[in-house]
Amino acid sequence: MIHTGLIGRPIDRVDGPYKVTGRARYAAEFFPPDVAYGVLVLSTVPSGQVRIDTGTVRSMPGVLGVLTHDNVASLPQKGRSAYGPPAGRTMSLLQDDEVHYNGEPVAVVVAETFEQATEAAAKLDVTYVTRAAQLSFDAAKSVAHKPEKLARGTEPDLNWGDVDAGLRAADVVIENVYTTPMEHHNPIEPHGTVAHWENDRLTLYDATQYVSGVRQTVSKTLGIEVEKVRVIDPYVGGGFGCKGSTWSHVVLAALAAKQVQRPVKLVLSRPQMFGPVGGRPQTEQRLVLGAARDGKLTGLRHAVISHTSVMEDFAEACTNPTRSLYACANGAVTQRLAKLNVGVPTFQRAPGESTGSFAIESALDELAYALGMDPLDLRLRNYAEAEPSTGKPWSSKQLRACYSLAAERFGWARRTREPRSMRDGRWLVGWGMATATYPGHRMTASAVARMLPGGNVLVQSGTQDLGTGTYTIMTQIAAQSLGVAVERVRFVLGDTALPQAPVSGGSMTAASVGPAVQNACVALRDKLIALSVADPASPLHGRAAVDATIENGWIVAREGSARESVSDLVGRQRSGVEARGDAKPGEEEKQFASRSFGAVFAEVRVDEQTAMLQVQRISAVYSVGKVMNEKTARSQLEGGIVWGLGMALFEHSVLDPRYGRFVNANLAEYHVPVNADVRKIEVDFVTEDDQVFNPLGGRGIGEIGITGVPGAVANAVFHATGKRIRDLPITLDKLI
Ligand code: MOS
Repeated sequence: MIHTGLIGRPIDRVDGPYKVTGRARYAAEFFPPDVAYGVLVLSTVPSGQVRIDTGTVRSMPGVLGVLTHDNVASLPQKGRSAYGPPAGRTMSLLQDDEVHYNGEPVAVVVAETFEQATEAAAKLDVTYVTRAAQLSFDAAKSVAHKPEKLARGTEPDLNWGDVDAGLRAADVVIENVYTTPMEHHNPIEPHGTVAHWENDRLTLYDATQYVSGVRQTVSKTLGIEVEKVRVIDPYVGGGFGCKGSTWSHVVLAALAAKQVQRPVKLVLSRPQMFGPVGGRPQTEQRLVLGAARDGKLTGLRHAVISHTSVMEDFAEACTNPTRSLYACANGAVTQRLAKLNVGVPTFQRAPGESTGSFAIESALDELAYALGMDPLDLRLRNYAEAEPSTGKPWSSKQLRACYSLAAERFGWARRTREPRSMRDGRWLVGWGMATATYPGHRMTASAVARMLPGGNVLVQSGTQDLGTGTYTIMTQIAAQSLGVAVERVRFVLGDTALPQAPVSGGSMTAASVGPAVQNACVALRDKLIALSVADPASPLHGRAAVDATIENGWIVAREGSARESVSDLVGRQRSGVEARGDAKPGEEEKQFASRSFGAVFAEVRVDEQTAMLQVQRISAVYSVGKVMNEKTARSQLEGGIVWGLGMALFEHSVLDPRYGRFVNANLAEYHVPVNADVRKIEVDFVTEDDQVFNPLGGRGIGEIGITGVPGAVANAVFHATGKRIRDLPITLDKLI
């Protein structure tokens, strides 16, 4: 394959063959010599003190040790918070006998085999002195508090203009409450850690979105130098936010390995994924929208209460889309937290934007009906040419083009406005739409590129590939920047021994690591050219470096026919040639607002007799800046849309109000879309190149796919049935 215009091409995943042949090793597939197996024991009461008698279990076959609060080493930092980064992630590290939620780790049993550890864990003698627990969101919200910051650092409250005056001036005001339930991420690969001590050095094979974050947190928590901890994770089987933080099981695996003097592997079971490793918080969102007759918004208010744990604050930033989506001179947003005896919630795919956009996109639809306007016209009437709450210009925004292209693909012009006005036999047909959005972020990242004798290139960065395409797009960026074929490039990631990269979260891997890889490869190209023109053995000897370039693995003179292959040049060097690249955001980050957008159109069918609901098709078009690989990008967005269907129709972690345990903590009863639920999905992109945001021109695509979908589906359900469902998920009982 030639190298020009490689970025954007829909090439196959370079890691695909490793995955389908089983050669890709995930964290739990590393087997250090003599590895033992650890199994977590979780609390079965939501609040109280735990007592554990390890006597009988210690003599069971194969048992090597039982870690409890009675025997775990006292960690240097007392207290249960500030073990970050990510800052403030509270962990349960068996430092005392307090139980804060049902499902909190209270012991680790280690044995020769996984089966022996599992049996011993089940037989461990655990009793509790129970205390009253807060398990009612309604009760907790009456004493809700204001968090210091929202997730990702924004202020919980913001006012712009004069919202009271704006609402007074409105011709139409609507006010409604929207709710979304607790959910859990459930990547196919559960959390898992293999901890291996060699003297005072610790190697962790950990399922994580952030190898260097785990390294920092573990070194700080254990009180050992950061250089003594190495974290490795070449393949991740999905993350979605739960693997963005370091949870207690990682440190517990290290403590267990120290205690039994053997490497220890600790993998969470599926039920254990519901509690000690985060989840999406429950939200209750009150939205007030005021508009003039012509549809122009005059005032908006968005007040959110979400749940957090008694252990720590986590505030889902549901008001973020409201601050950014629609032009309105007067707005007020507030966020409060209701504390429950549950595990600490965390980032879950498009945190804030997925839940928040459901509320605001439903409210816009309700306003459109109150005004007698088309929902798309109402959005165009309030199109935000700059970010409404800050006045900042966009680094780039092509949402108008998304609306028109998606509307055309979908056939929106053929929609009749009245609810229940479109039918297909016994089916009520509904068409709804919504705006998708997710902010553009990037952080400091580094990479190193090395031209090896023979002409192959090794490019390395301590980033992660969550299964989304990082290996592939970094290979493309490297090949294009260097002027070699993709087959020549091997990209290596997932190791703290490599140059540092940020968390693979917040949709920022491509935008952060991409420029670092680009810089490293451009620097390497320049170095190779400089070596060539300075080398008497080179056909390019004596030329100016600016007069040469690299094309398809050849160093070529821009004029004339002098050329030599990169492998010839490198063959004459003692070893390979290497260059490093660093990249970070600049002033543009403060001067511009960066956001991705999309238009999502949905068709649903509802059986008039049984209320059976099917989402027949989704057409979505996105403005995400430049796309790095059309194939992996499309796959990301389709996956996000499928998750949006899950959020709209199925997902709900049901908390038992008596015991604080999730009653559906498994994938049989925690419903996600299956093939039969996913019908036609059409994804497209508008042509865009956001050079203000980033030299590669792309804003990242990991999370926007889920946003907008729940709103579009709920709006389509209203159009089909005349029933406005403001409580996710839209299950059949709510439609009958
Ligand atoms: Mo994403 S929820 O920032 O991993």
